[in-house]
Amino acid sequence: MFDVNSVRQAYPALAGQVHGKPLVYLDNAATSQMARPVWDAVSRTELRRANVHRGIHAVSEECTAAYEAARAAVAGCLGAQPEQIRFTSGTTDAVNQTADWLRTQLRPGDRIAVTRMEHHSNFVPWQQICLETGAEFVILPLTASGELNMDAAQKMLAHGVRLVAAAHSSNVLGTVNDIPALAELTHKAGGQLFVDGAQGICHEEVDVNALNCDFYAFSGHKLGAPFGIGALYARSPLPPARFGGGMVDEVLDDRTTFAAPPQSGEAGTPNISGAVGLAAALDFRKKLPDGWQAWEDALLEQLEQGLHSIAGVHILGQPCRRSGCLSFTVDGASPYDIAVLLDQLGIAVRSGHHCAQPLLRTLGQEYALRVSPAFYNTPKEIDALLDGLRRVLPLCTT
Ligand code: ALA
Repeated sequence: MFDVNSVRQAYPALAGQVHGKPLVYLDNAATSQMARPVWDAVSRTELRRANVHRGIHAVSEECTAAYEAARAAVAGCLGAQPEQIRFTSGTTDAVNQTADWLRTQLRPGDRIAVTRMEHHSNFVPWQQICLETGAEFVILPLTASGELNMDAAQKMLAHGVRLVAAAHSSNVLGTVNDIPALAELTHKAGGQLFVDGAQGICHEEVDVNALNCDFYAFSGHKLGAPFGIGALYARSPLPPARFGGGMVDEVLDDRTTFAAPPQSGEAGTPNISGAVGLAAALDFRKKLPDGWQAWEDALLEQLEQGLHSIAGVHILGQPCRRSGCLSFTVDGASPYDIAVLLDQLGIAVRSGHHCAQPLLRTLGQEYALRVSPAFYNTPKEIDALLDGLRRVLPLCTT
């Protein structure tokens, strides 16, 4: 049995208060809390530090070893090789670096496809490089229940595509996409599949070989790691995206040769303690007691059932597989007002367009409320949210 109380002990933030009330933190899809062992790993790295790959003194070698061990740990968690992992500042950075590479290859008539449920970070960079190069930007539609319409995708990808960009799971609907099936379609069409794993990796173990994707990007801060660190897996390492120190082999007056991947992909001093923290967060997750995923699913189920019992609530989407979050609107009430009043009760949820305006617009909404539990949340906290909603809705419905 998953013992949530012992897991919670590791998280100082969860014992805190806001507005004099116990904090009920249900905004994990935006950023999740950090466990003490992760912070300890970060602070150890910061309190005795040197630059990496640049010194032969002991502290530099220690830090280099810790940094590369972090890369190996990230690679191990994904079923990848260390040279296939580039540390980035997060998912957005990873998408942009990949789009920068693809931009140089696109020709008018090439096609890039994204899904209708993408976060702006996995939408706008691809849209922009299409606008710059004359390539065609295609949006794969969803079904009425908020899943990727695979029949439509099959037809739309039949004419060939350079790259398909898809979320592992939606940051609004919680829909978990069938990535292996999408990979098959994409590869058959001659393209590569880029997976935005910012949400997906927070709720399941990821094996890039089983997913059969060509790229997988994610952010540390949603996994309990520090801000400003993330990773990009590329089946075939990308050429350098940025130039500078630490990524060259030899610099001549008229040309430069580059180090091998992964160093060639990381110009300048990297986020060393961030990488160590990311590996520590993945390690913490790996050592969680069995049952954490079933626990998360049960919280989401409790939330969904509870919301069904509140008049005027409309849950967005009804996918077969939902993980991590659920969004909804309430007749006659602004999501912003509801979130402000819930905050007064100590309950943190997110309101807004969730950086997914193309999706929200298709659903006929401008804004929605999103609740995103993590494995450290409790059924009591979900009840607190549902009770809170019942209390605040009469105050903000028109
Ligand atoms: N991408 C984060 C979210 O969906 C910030 O909330």
